[in-house]
Amino acid sequence: MQNNCQFGMIGLGVMGQNLLLNIADHGFAVAGFDTNTQKVAELQQNATVGTQIFATDNLPQFINALQSPKKIMLLVPAGPAVDAVLQNLAPYLNQGDIVIDGGNSFYKHTNERVQRLAAQGIHFMGMGVSGGEEGARRGPALMPGGDEVAWHHVQPIFEAIAAKVGTDACVAYMGKDAAGHFVKMVHNGIEYAVMQLIAETYAVLKHGLHYTNTQLQDVFTRWNSTELESYLIEITADIFGKKAEDETTDIIDIILDVAGSKGTGKWTSVEALQLSIPIPTIDAAVTARAVSTFKPLRNSLATTVQKCTGEFTITENDCKSALYAAIIVAYVQGLHLIQQASVDMNMQVPLANAVKVWRGGCIIRSQLLTTFYDVFVQHPQTVQLLEAAPIQQLLNTHIQGLRAVVSQATQNGIACSALASAVTYFDMFSTAYLPINLIQAQRDYFGAHTYQRTDKDGSFHTQWQA
Ligand code: 6PG
Repeated sequence: MQNNCQFGMIGLGVMGQNLLLNIADHGFAVAGFDTNTQKVAELQQNATVGTQIFATDNLPQFINALQSPKKIMLLVPAGPAVDAVLQNLAPYLNQGDIVIDGGNSFYKHTNERVQRLAAQGIHFMGMGVSGGEEGARRGPALMPGGDEVAWHHVQPIFEAIAAKVGTDACVAYMGKDAAGHFVKMVHNGIEYAVMQLIAETYAVLKHGLHYTNTQLQDVFTRWNSTELESYLIEITADIFGKKAEDETTDIIDIILDVAGSKGTGKWTSVEALQLSIPIPTIDAAVTARAVSTFKPLRNSLATTVQKCTGEFTITENDCKSALYAAIIVAYVQGLHLIQQASVDMNMQVPLANAVKVWRGGCIIRSQLLTTFYDVFVQHPQTVQLLEAAPIQQLLNTHIQGLRAVVSQATQNGIACSALASAVTYFDMFSTAYLPINLIQAQRDYFGAHTYQRTDKDGSFHTQWQA
C-alpha cells in the first residue's frame, strides 16, 4: 500500500487496534504501526474481510503508506511514551501533517506539544476517547481539541466511527489547544464521582436496608429504566448478577475493596483547586480511592471502633432520589470547572458540544445529559448549571432524599463522603449567608488581612485586642 492510506495509527494495543478496525470498517484505507510484531499480526488477523488495512512494525513503511497530509493518531500510554513516539516520527513529518494523541494525556503536556509542533507547521491535536474497548470498536465518544482547520481534515473519519445518538455523532470540536484533553480529564473526574456515588448508595442499600445481591441487581435494573438511566447504572446491575468461576459465589463479594486509579481523577481535583472552582464530589471520589488503599489500617480499626447500628427508616426511593440528586451535582461541578477553565485559558470550549458528545459512547453517558444539553442550547451563557430552572426543579424534588440518606448513613457509620459533599455543595451555593464573615474576622485578627463590610464600601481593619 503506497501512499494510499487515509489514516494511520501508532500503538496497536486494545484501544488503538479496535479504533483502527472501526475506521477500516467504515470504508477508510488505514495503516497500523507497532514495534510489537504480535500486535501487528493480531491487527491483520482481526481485520474484517474486504477492508483495507496495512499493518507493519516498520516505521518508514508505515509512513510511506500514508496519503499527504498525513493523519496519524497515537494510542500509546500517556506520558514519556508520547514524546518518544513524537521524536521517532519527527524526521518523517512535513508541514500540514496532523498528529492526534488519543490517550489520556495530561492537558498541560498536550499544550506544550501543540506549541512545539506548531513551530514546525505540524498540527498536534489532543483528543479524548471514551468508551473502553467495546466503545473503540463499535462507537466511542470523541473529544478533539486543537487547531480547528486540522480538525476539519479528520472530521469525516471521526464522525463516521463515533457513537450515534439519533443521527448525531458523538464527536465535536472541543476548543483550542488542549481543550480536548481538558474535557476528557473532567469527564473522568465526573466518572470517578458517579462511580463513588453509586458505590455509597450500594453500601446504604446493603448495610442499611439489607438488600441481597439479587435485590441489588433488581434495583439497579429498575432504576436504569427511569430518569437514572445511564451506562454506569446499567453495568452496576450486571455486576450484581455475575457469578465467580465456581458458579455459586457472587463475584462482587470476593472483589477486594481497594481501588486503583491512573490519575485522571486526581488531575481534575488538582486543576480545580488551582482554578478555585469547587468540585467537592469529585474530590471525595478521589479521596475515597486513596482511603481504600489503607486496607490493613482499616481492617485493624474496624475491630476497635464502635459504630452505631440503629434502625434505618429511609426507603429505596430515598436512595434513588439521593443518587439522582448527587449525580446531578457531580455533573454541575465538572461542567462548572470546564466553563471556568475555558475562560481562564482561552480554550473557547462550547459547553453544549461537550455535553452533546457525552450523551453516547462514553462512560458517563446518561439520560441526564440531554437535560443539560437543552439548558446549554437554550442558555449558552450558563456558567454554572445550578442557575438553570430545570436543574433547580430536579434538585428541589430530590434533595430531601439525599438529606435523609446522608443523615442516616452518617448516624450509622456508613461512610458516604461523596453523597454528603453533594448536599453540602448544594446548600453552600443556595444560601445567601455563609459563616465566612467569621473567617474574615479571624484573618484580620491574626494577620491584619482586612475585610469588607456589608454597610459601607472599602477595606477595613480592626484593632482586635484592647
Ligand atoms: C473512558 C475511561 C477510561 C478509563 C480511565 C480511568 O472514558 O473510557 O475514563 O479512560 O477508565 O483510564 O481509569 P482509572 O479509574 O484507572 O483512573
